[in-house]
Amino acid sequence: MDTTELKNKFTEIYGESKEQIHAFFAPGRVNLIGEHTDYNGGYVLPCALDYGTYLLVRKCDKKHISLTTTEFEYAPTIPLDLIHEKHGQEWVNYPLGIIDQFRKLNSQLQTGAELLFSGTIPHGAGLSSSASIEMVTAVALNDIFSFGHSLVELIQLSQRAENDFVGMNCGIMDQFAVGMGRENHAVFLDTDTLDYELVPVKLKDHKLIISNTNKQRKLTDSKYNERRTECEQALEHLNKEGQAFKNLGKIEYTQFQKVQERIPDPVLQKRARHVITEDKRVIAATQALNSGDLETFGRLMNESHDSLRDDYEVTGKELDTLVDEARKLEGVLGSRMTGAGFGGCTVSLVRAEATEAFISQVGKNYEAKTGLKPEFYTTLIRDGAKKINI
Ligand code: GLA
Repeated sequence: MDTTELKNKFTEIYGESKEQIHAFFAPGRVNLIGEHTDYNGGYVLPCALDYGTYLLVRKCDKKHISLTTTEFEYAPTIPLDLIHEKHGQEWVNYPLGIIDQFRKLNSQLQTGAELLFSGTIPHGAGLSSSASIEMVTAVALNDIFSFGHSLVELIQLSQRAENDFVGMNCGIMDQFAVGMGRENHAVFLDTDTLDYELVPVKLKDHKLIISNTNKQRKLTDSKYNERRTECEQALEHLNKEGQAFKNLGKIEYTQFQKVQERIPDPVLQKRARHVITEDKRVIAATQALNSGDLETFGRLMNESHDSLRDDYEVTGKELDTLVDEARKLEGVLGSRMTGAGFGGCTVSLVRAEATEAFISQVGKNYEAKTGLKPEFYTTLIRDGAKKINI
């Protein structure tokens, strides 16, 4: 649905009014490298996508807010004094979580509002449709109610909305990429300090292809939280002998090798090793991207996936099959899972002329091995969340 159609849909749902309709867009994200490091104070390197969430919003003089989306039927109108209650597992918990966080910062909605969302991010693909809804709501309400929060504050409150209101214990990567992304740039972010740098993504005659396993991700949240706990336990063991590592992310690998025996459980040791080696790979990959060395970048993507498969154990048959089939093809420089894992998508760096062969060959072989039909997106890197004209 384009923005003119959306505007028509908005007035069809909510009717005409003297109040102005404002429009916003927040993208989804793909992470190029640096997986499961963001809750360990490590580095990440995501980019914002051209897929994302539109939000049309208008103030109204009633004491309620109305939430509608072009994607789901559930469209409640909620009195302002009840907007801080959770609605089961419904999509509205994302915008409501944002309103709740604004309230905690003393930024209260002064009037009611009417909202229409419309998303283009494939659901359950791990391309951050939730961070996209959160950030588009945060940027929009901050603008129309003149709350005056900075973009970094909006990013942080969006993460808290997901942690506290929705109940998913995510790190800050997704909201940061969705907020700070820039066209044709990746965001090199230190998740400990929130220092970041925009890194030009010059792919020359290559493309990034996102491949969706289309596997239903059922256990993602519980497995994700389990990995977080394992990292906390590994850090506790490392700090047993009076050492005070702040987080796993910033431990040097050589230092880790000297102290890893303090972690008695080999599984916890592997989890820590992934985080620590992945962090080094993000730094090396960022340097490779800066110097236009795509071969090295691709190799690091492969190493990242292998570490997520063997040490962190968050891949599974579908992601591994997609990656294995991709790597068999001429013209594929690197391929890895992206996002939380257990399903969702891979990202591959592919010579432009091999794109068609990639889609047909990988598609055919993956389907033959898993019985699932994959989907492919040749994505563009776009700007982060912003106000748009309609
Ligand atoms: C999910 C989370 C992120 C991050 C990734 C793994 O996308 O939302 O915060 O932890 O998984 O890198």
